[in-house]
Amino acid sequence: MTTAIANPPVSVAADDAHTLALVDRPLVLSYFVLSYVYFLIALVAGLLYSMQFIQLYPFPEIEFLSPGRIRMLHTNGLAYGFIANAFLGGLHWAIPRLTMQRVFSDKLSWLILVVWQGIVLATVFGLLTGQAQALEWGETPIWIDPVAVLGLFLVGFNLMTPVIRFSGPMYVSLWYFIAALVWTLLTYTMGNFFTEYWIGGTASGAIIGLFIHDLVGLFVTPIGWGLMYYFVPIILRKPIWSHGLSLVGFWGLAFFYPLNGIHHFLYTPIPMFLQHGAIVATIAVEFVVTTVIVNFFMTLRGSGDALRRSLPIRWFYVGMVLYFVTCLQCAFQTTLTFQRIIHFSDWVVAHAHMVMFGVFGFWILGMMVYLIPRLVGTRGWWSDTLNSWHFWLSVISLVIMIIDLTLGGLVQGFQWKNLVLWEETVRSMVPFWLTRTFSGAAITIAQFLFAFNIYMTVTDRSLRGPIDAEPSYTYG
Ligand code: HEM
Repeated sequence: MTTAIANPPVSVAADDAHTLALVDRPLVLSYFVLSYVYFLIALVAGLLYSMQFIQLYPFPEIEFLSPGRIRMLHTNGLAYGFIANAFLGGLHWAIPRLTMQRVFSDKLSWLILVVWQGIVLATVFGLLTGQAQALEWGETPIWIDPVAVLGLFLVGFNLMTPVIRFSGPMYVSLWYFIAALVWTLLTYTMGNFFTEYWIGGTASGAIIGLFIHDLVGLFVTPIGWGLMYYFVPIILRKPIWSHGLSLVGFWGLAFFYPLNGIHHFLYTPIPMFLQHGAIVATIAVEFVVTTVIVNFFMTLRGSGDALRRSLPIRWFYVGMVLYFVTCLQCAFQTTLTFQRIIHFSDWVVAHAHMVMFGVFGFWILGMMVYLIPRLVGTRGWWSDTLNSWHFWLSVISLVIMIIDLTLGGLVQGFQWKNLVLWEETVRSMVPFWLTRTFSGAAITIAQFLFAFNIYMTVTDRSLRGPIDAEPSYTYG
């Protein structure tokens, strides 16, 4: 490892035999396919759960399909099934190409893939049989936690070996990846063990806040941005605008993010100076985020046509706009003034969907659109039109869901503040929850369209051939 540098040169991008040989393509494809299967299952779970709110839940009497358990299937399935698998696939593609080294062991990579699926399936089993751990986002039953920690350690060892062996420049993507591999292991261990066995009471609330926030900020965010710093310059065929700003973004995230956790528990018995500290740190994150967004949009300057010609770029940049909106929203909703209204309301659910699907989900989908033909060895996609439909239906339905739940959250919050009868507040939410189910159904349909396109692209042998590096299709 020597100096740091902002973006990979084009040689790292080239799909020549040498760089392709560094990557275990069946492995990356397997991660993506598994990720997508969990994605579909978790979406259906979300859709079912949303029907509980409009009193149409289809399995009211079946204990192991009770709505509370199905909610955890939705959230955990998305976090550990969809996002984690897709990120593992992305890392197994990007790290060997950035370092020009294979991972420590291909056999270990496959073992990790199998073990990780075991962990996800055991979690599903545990959740549906009522064994959830009482830790938000760490509901994985306690007997699985040690295996998950071991799995995370092996992932770090396998993927960090090529970085350590590499003697070239430290691309900013690698900074993010290394940090994420270390932070995820620490975060998972802290959240799942400290609060379960050693720390209780209010102090455990503070640790749980840290855990919830660090899962987003120190696991999902750095891998997501690391992948953006990798894919965007490669597709645009130009360097990132400012190397200096990319480092401000990285170190700003490293410094401020871990201080944010307690903003999940404002107005609780946690000492007020800690709550105030978390509020200030959350607002600071918005400034850091702005530097990253400016950097990416300045990189796009002069290449705006890519938004029409490259679907991955479109997914990535829509995700970045939503990232900026989410973080701007954070800077306001973290204040005690906003909290008085929105706490526990559907505003928060809108916020969660905007960041988890609108940002990281969109980046993953963009990455899949870019990589799947390269992994399968096809000239392109079976249907570009279907990909266009997938994009627009997902974006429009998600925006409807966000606006709907944000407004609903405000209605709820003001009603609660004015001590409106509880039943009355529930009744006035029904139109918002109905709209959520409809927009959710549209999101789900869009993902099934993409699943069909993946299936056809993988199975249609007439598509096999060298990748069409300059796509001829202009996306509507
Ligand atoms: C079919 C589309 C979807 C529907 C109908 C749906 C529905 C729901 C429902 C009903 C909840 C529980 C809200 C509550 O307890 O008040 C929820 C929570 C959540 N969903 Fe979804 N969802 C969908 C898609 C997604 C996607 C694609 C993601 C991320 C990739 C996602 C991430 C989340 C998260 C993070 C939460 C937890 C929110 C919180 O605790 O505040 N959902 N979803």
